[in-house]
This record gives sequence, C-alpha cells and structure tokens, in this order.
Amino acid sequence: MADIKMTVPFFKASLGKEEEDAAIRVLRSGWLTTGNEAHLFEKEFAEKIGAKHALAVNSNTSGMIMAMEACGVKQGKAVITTPYTFVSTAASARHLNADVYFADIEKETYSIDPDCIEKILDSDKGKNVVAIVPVHIAGNVCNMKRIMEIARKHNVYVIEDCAHSFPSKTDMGFAGTIGDVGVFSFYATKTMTTGEGGMVTTDNEALAKRMTQMRLHGMNRDAWDRYTSTKASWEYDIIAPGFKSNLPDILAAIGRIQLLKADEFDAKRKSHVKKYNEEFSKLDFIKIPPTSRGDSCHLYLMRLDLAKLKCDRNTFAKELQERGLGVSMHFIPIFHFTYWKELYPDFKAEEFPQAEQKYIETISIPLWPDMTDEMTDYVIECVKTVGEKYHG
Ligand SMILES: Cc1ncc(COP(=O)(O)O)c(C=O)c1O
Repeated sequence: MADIKMTVPFFKASLGKEEEDAAIRVLRSGWLTTGNEAHLFEKEFAEKIGAKHALAVNSNTSGMIMAMEACGVKQGKAVITTPYTFVSTAASARHLNADVYFADIEKETYSIDPDCIEKILDSDKGKNVVAIVPVHIAGNVCNMKRIMEIARKHNVYVIEDCAHSFPSKTDMGFAGTIGDVGVFSFYATKTMTTGEGGMVTTDNEALAKRMTQMRLHGMNRDAWDRYTSTKASWEYDIIAPGFKSNLPDILAAIGRIQLLKADEFDAKRKSHVKKYNEEFSKLDFIKIPPTSRGDSCHLYLMRLDLAKLKCDRNTFAKELQERGLGVSMHFIPIFHFTYWKELYPDFKAEEFPQAEQKYIETISIPLWPDMTDEMTDYVIECVKTVGEKYHG
C-alpha cells in the first residue's frame, strides 16, 4: 500500500460568507423562484462576456435543449458534435428526436476537428444538419474561426457548449459569444457554480425570444413579470408545449457573487496550471495539454505518453488514488455507451481514432482555485513517483 501524505480532493468549490449571505437574503425576501436576482444575474453575465441576451437556466442540459429547439432541431434533422464530451451534449438532440452525427477531435487537442465537420456537411447526411455543437473541453476553445466559416458556408447554426469555458477569452471574443448561441454550466464542479444551473447567451433576437418563452412552459410572460407589472397576473398565453428550465432566485443570488469572484478563481487556476506545466514538462512520460485560443483552465487533462510507461492509464490513475488524490476521466467517448451503440451500430472507436487515443491516455488531476502550494506540490510528487515506478 502506498504512503498517503495528504488527501487532495478532485474538486472543492470556493464558497464563502458572501454566498451564504446572498442565499439568506433571498430566503428572507420571500421571493424564491425566478425574479429580480435572476434578471440581475443575466444582466451582469451578459455584460461580463459581451452578449446581448443572457437567459439563466437550471442546467446546461436544459439550456442546450432550449437552444437546439430554437434552432429548429427536431425529428428528421440532425446536429454535428464530438464524441469527446459529456453525454448531455448529444442527448439533448435525442430529447428532440433528432439525430446526432459525430466528428472526431483534432490530433493535438481535445477539440472537434473542423475537417471532420466539413466532411459530414459535404456528404449526403449534410442536408439534415441544422446546427454544429462545438464543445470547448477543459476551457480550451475550439477552432471557432474555421467552424464559423464552415457554418456560414453551409447555412447552419453554431451552438457552443461552454460548460467548461467560462471565462475563456479569445481574439474573437469570449466563448459563448462567437457562435449563434452559447450554453454555460454552473454545476457544482464548474469554474463558477450555483450548485446546479446554467446560462444561455445569444445576440440573435429571434432565438432569444423563442428560448425565453420555451424556458417557462411556453408562456408569453414569466412569473416576475406577471406579479410585478400592472397588467393582471393571471393573463398569459401559451405558444408551445414549453420546458421548465428557469433558475430560481436563491441560486441566481449565489451566482451573482460567484461571478464577482470569477476572475480571481480564474487567476488561481491558471497559476496552478502553470506550475503543473512547468514541472510536468521535465517528465518524458507526460504530454502537456493544449492551452491555445483562450483557456479557462477548468480541468487539467494530464496526458500520459504510454510508450514511455509499463502500465496503462487505469493503473496510473489507481496508483494516484491510492496516494490520496482525487482523479477523474474526461471523457469516456460516447461510442463506448450501450444506448449510443444500439442506436447507431456503426458508431465505433475505430471511426474516431483521435478521440479513442486521448481517452486511453488521459487522467484529470485535481485543479481548483483554493488548492494550497502543499497540495499542488503533493500532486506533482505523486505523479513523479508513479511515473518513475512504471517507467519503461
Ligand atoms: C461538456 C459538458 N457539457 C454539458 C454538461 C452538462 O452540464 P449540466 O450538468 O449543467 O447540465 C457538462 C457537465 O458536466 C459537460 O461537462
């Protein structure tokens, strides 16, 4: 059994008295559902990233379904995304009975490969596609210049999955403002959190209007409007069988505080990543993850050079765990899951060599703002010790 000097959790959210006070303030106000706090949160988030509209939602997943629905994703239509993502990106299209076409990732990054996207759009299947859904894995923004050129050429929408990419700033603007829609996550482990939650951003008036109505039962007025305007509160119309995706004010109030702290969290994560990169670049069995095109450093995807090691990724990860480190895998590619294999029998690892290769050589190691120097030192020490043990 390995020596455990300390335990370093995979993630710990940074929450302080300010978040507690904000939640209590809302509880005491008596208004718990979506109201003024959510509206202010939307305004502040939109200002921060330079988007015209921001809609607070109760998860990235519900925001993604809303965004796809507004873009016309439905039965007989399809979206293009990457198999190297969390399943919800692709499952959102299935909730709308649409198909998903998968494009492999680039050789040197974890991002969807524009050449593979174009190949699908140029094939017979291309005519069904209504949206491309790039995922900015770990905060590393995809090649949006190429993706936007391809999308405009083929007249399809771009919905950015920004679950990992707040705040990723590129020379084209913040992630979430480059495509037609951006969908963020404030899940417990994300770069800022409301426990569960998300934000949808767009500059497109028609999409914003449709998503606003679909977010709350397809109603043409939300609760805040109904109870604060002079028009009778019981008067509303239903324009479609909408969703229930609004963010309650308690969570929005926590989000507003997290938003104020976001740059500080970002700087801390970046300094940990810098230290990891400096130390790991001295080790021949680690490939430094990409950091180009703006990067919110949400995850540290540690890539093993398996040719230099006499063990596989799982053994390496288990050894780190035995030394007290929390580790994770981002991501199990979607073609490994039963539902998707049954749905698309040709959806196989051999068709996605880059995604499969990254999967078998990647481990996510602890990365969160309040890690101490002792913690990051210990993570580095454990990686070195395990690497030396299995060095070929
Ligand atoms: C890439 C990606 N997309 C979407 C999601 C879904 O986010 P949420 O839990 O807010 O629905 C996640 C969550 O982990 C994710 O990692």
